[in-house]
Amino acid sequence: MQQWQSKMLRCPFDRGQLLAGEGEIRCSECQRTFPIVDGIPSFVLPDLATAHEREEWLRKQSEIQARDAQASQYDRLLGLLLMSPVETRMTLRALRGESGRFNVLAEIGCGTGRMLQHFAALADFAIGVDFSLQSLRVCRQRMQQAGFLEKTLLIHADACFLPLADEVLDAVASCQLVEHLPSDRLRLQVVAEMARVLKPGGRYAISGYHWSWLTRWGGAKQGMHPGGIYYYRFTRREFYELVNTHLPVESLRSILGYVWLASGSKGA
Ligand SMILES: C[S@@+](CC[C@H](N)C(=O)[O-])C[C@H]1O[C@@H](n2cnc3c(N)ncnc32)[C@H](O)[C@@H]1O
Ligand SMILES: [Zn+2]
Repeated sequence: MQQWQSKMLRCPFDRGQLLAGEGEIRCSECQRTFPIVDGIPSFVLPDLATAHEREEWLRKQSEIQARDAQASQYDRLLGLLLMSPVETRMTLRALRGESGRFNVLAEIGCGTGRMLQHFAALADFAIGVDFSLQSLRVCRQRMQQAGFLEKTLLIHADACFLPLADEVLDAVASCQLVEHLPSDRLRLQVVAEMARVLKPGGRYAISGYHWSWLTRWGGAKQGMHPGGIYYYRFTRREFYELVNTHLPVESLRSILGYVWLASGSKGA
């Protein structure tokens, strides 16, 4: 593990300093060890489940299994293929604001790296966090092909308990993650975590399902996708309040009636 990578990481249980060793990382506070799998430090432990309500944890477990199973086909989903060009352009513009480049940028819930490959081009160092190890393996290959692997850190972790130090990021993005957190409490917790790891003045862009004329057509406000993935669709007000509770919303736009995109800077 490179020095810049270990400097970013903290124990998700107590924020203790982590010491990188051969094939694992140890917390200097609680002495827990975390494995490094295919170069990816892994912090998704059953232990963390005790911090969840049981039902919420079971829903997350079912999503991890579904995401692992679909990792090799995810990038071929028709809806994503159609939306990606517009979504990428709008999200990059929203994230940059007036900024040019970033030093350290992270995508939380990066999946197979569909968006992370574009974010990484804006940054000196890129971090991708996801709780599906299979998706991260696909992401790793993609970052290697794009020539970004050397400056990328992929982390296997639950977005509700980010193993990152406070205020280390110059920019944070999250694309179509928040709608999959299975309760109001966890959706707020994820946004709070993103705010915690972002530097004051740092930029953010967060997207999540839009409850619109389009998605109402044959769709439900919340439910389960085939395979066991929970989702929630937000009204404008709900999405604004979710994000603005922890990060000031400067812009809130819909991408093709399918997802909301909120962006802005963290206050000083
Ligand atoms: C709809 S996919 C989006 C992936 C990627 N951001 C993109 O736009 O292509 C949602 C991703 O969030 C991840 N995810 C959902 N809940 C998570 C959680 N609690 N912690 C970490 N990752 C999570 C899933 O594994 C999945 O890869
Ligand atoms: Zn610890």
